[in-house]
Amino acid sequence: MAITNAKCPQVDNGAMSERVYGYPILRPRRLRRSENVRRLVSETDLDPSKLIMPLFVRESAQKKEEIPEMPGVYRLPLEQVVREVEVAAEEGVNSFIVFGIPSYKDELGTGAYAREGVVQKAIALIKQSFGDHAVVFADTCLCEYTSHGHCGFVVGGVVDNDRSLELLSKVAVSQAEAGADFVSPSAMMDGQVKAIREALDKEGFRDTGILAYSAKYASSFYGPFRSAAQSAPKYGDRRGYQMDARNVREALKEVELDIREGADIVMVKPAMPYLDVLSEVRRRFNHPVAAYQVSGEYTMLRLAGRQGYVDERLAILESLTSIRRAGADLIITYFAPEVSSFIQEPGD
Ligand code: PBG
Repeated sequence: MAITNAKCPQVDNGAMSERVYGYPILRPRRLRRSENVRRLVSETDLDPSKLIMPLFVRESAQKKEEIPEMPGVYRLPLEQVVREVEVAAEEGVNSFIVFGIPSYKDELGTGAYAREGVVQKAIALIKQSFGDHAVVFADTCLCEYTSHGHCGFVVGGVVDNDRSLELLSKVAVSQAEAGADFVSPSAMMDGQVKAIREALDKEGFRDTGILAYSAKYASSFYGPFRSAAQSAPKYGDRRGYQMDARNVREALKEVELDIREGADIVMVKPAMPYLDVLSEVRRRFNHPVAAYQVSGEYTMLRLAGRQGYVDERLAILESLTSIRRAGADLIITYFAPEVSSFIQEPGD
């Protein structure tokens, strides 16, 4: 295909003719000759400082237990949390998002905002040991704590949006009290960011940030997480509140609303199947944009790698690079510590 000057404004001054602007004068391969050259001209980077590592903390766990659906990812007892953060920090990871698996569930998910709740304790332990060296996000939701497994207050089998806001605000305040740097509302209730921002400000947590799961799709890729966190809904599904995979304009509306309501960072989730959404959000808004490479994405890559069907290391790097290239400033990924350990190593 001919490259015309119209598409190359930098050669539009007449100094180069259209004939010159092409092969054999131009050979893009010159910039691919060695890894050092490739690095010099690379457009996207991947750095451990951009990655957030999820931590599953299980109240009843006696020891670190591998999650069968997510080989290489563990549920931790509270006593192990600080050690896990320390190990990840050695690899250069300094941001974490904490998920709790409580021993007790009820209709209202009261464990999600208990002062002595499993997440509150885990956050406090991390912040006591690491202070500002660890940035702690808390997943602000109810599904791990409710007996029905839905993300809000259920009335007659339906999640009641406005009554759920009160509960989510309580969860956020309790997480801020425990020391979370950011709360991360993921329930997909309308108005949740506004309600949480107001509740945090009222309680004096003006500096606690909000990472909003703004465009969170109803996705089959959350399967392994729901087993890991024991948070699958007991009846129905989440399509009444999470987004429809067929929509992108709706995602832009969700992001806009969250920004107006006070989100500091907006997020698209899952990541790889929604790179178009991510890129559109990046293009349209000036807020930091996060992407969540979810459990199903992790497990697919991990299993294909373990089977030797793809080069595990290269596939992991390529997946995260693609998410950055599409527009993510930061990425939540279960690969965070592992990828950080080999990111810095020189290539061939
Ligand atoms: C809600 C929440 C979920 C995930 C993160 N926060 C589950 C859901 O919406 O069902 C999924 C993350 C993953 O799959 O890795 N608490």
